Amino acid sequence: MGKDVIIACDFSSKEQVFAFLDKFEGKKPFVKIGMELFYAEGPEIVREIKRRGHKIFLDLKLHDIPNTVKKSMNVLSRLDVDMTNLHAAGTISMMEAALEGLTRPDGTRPLLIAVTQLTSTDQQRMEDDLLIKEPIDKVVMHYASNAAKAGLDGVVCSPLEAEKVHETCGKSFLTVTPGVRFADGDIGDQKRVMTPAEAKRIGSDYIVVGRPITAAEDPVAAYERCINEFVD
Ligand code: C5P
Repeated sequence: MGKDVIIACDFSSKEQVFAFLDKFEGKKPFVKIGMELFYAEGPEIVREIKRRGHKIFLDLKLHDIPNTVKKSMNVLSRLDVDMTNLHAAGTISMMEAALEGLTRPDGTRPLLIAVTQLTSTDQQRMEDDLLIKEPIDKVVMHYASNAAKAGLDGVVCSPLEAEKVHETCGKSFLTVTPGVRFADGDIGDQKRVMTPAEAKRIGSDYIVVGRPITAAEDPVAAYERCINEFVD
């Protein structure tokens, strides 16, 4: 899969998500389904969006003992999603078990990417709450290297970390980056943001864009603007 724009469908019901996707008519954007929608509607929402012809990034951030994650990933692989994720904090053995569970009998599997430190965790909280005393950038790169060692395909990271991740883990290791905003748009609660064009320049492989598209007056035009800046 090449560079693409993934729309974060942060809606709480299927009515809302379908009303949104209906606006795209013939177009089939790559969409991210997160915990809110998945827990509200169950796995059927994934099947329904897949049947409509969209690629799906199922963002459930698994983190448990290796055996539980392996069996859960096996269930997710049958949902035929294109990308899913877990927390790198679960250790290399958990990530290896996840890959094993995700791989279908014919050898194919969805892309598997890791969350390193959440962007809501800052240096202070990491030191005080998690007792991790190293600089956060070093921790993020260490978790990314662990994901690469386990055989995962990439990480979710801030666009500002994407270049360093590629230097550390190789060019083909995928960087999936949220925190994208248009130059003339609202930043909202995101702190460190980049435009789609900047994300392209620094080598992000996928950008995850929520409110700049979902809350736009014309979501289709906003999506096309992202594609023009990031992909074309
Ligand atoms: O609306 P917005 O563009 O800020 O949405 C970004 C999406 O990416 C949301 O679904 C958010 O949960 C997700 N995300 C993020 N930062 C991370 C990981 C995921 O914004 N570090």
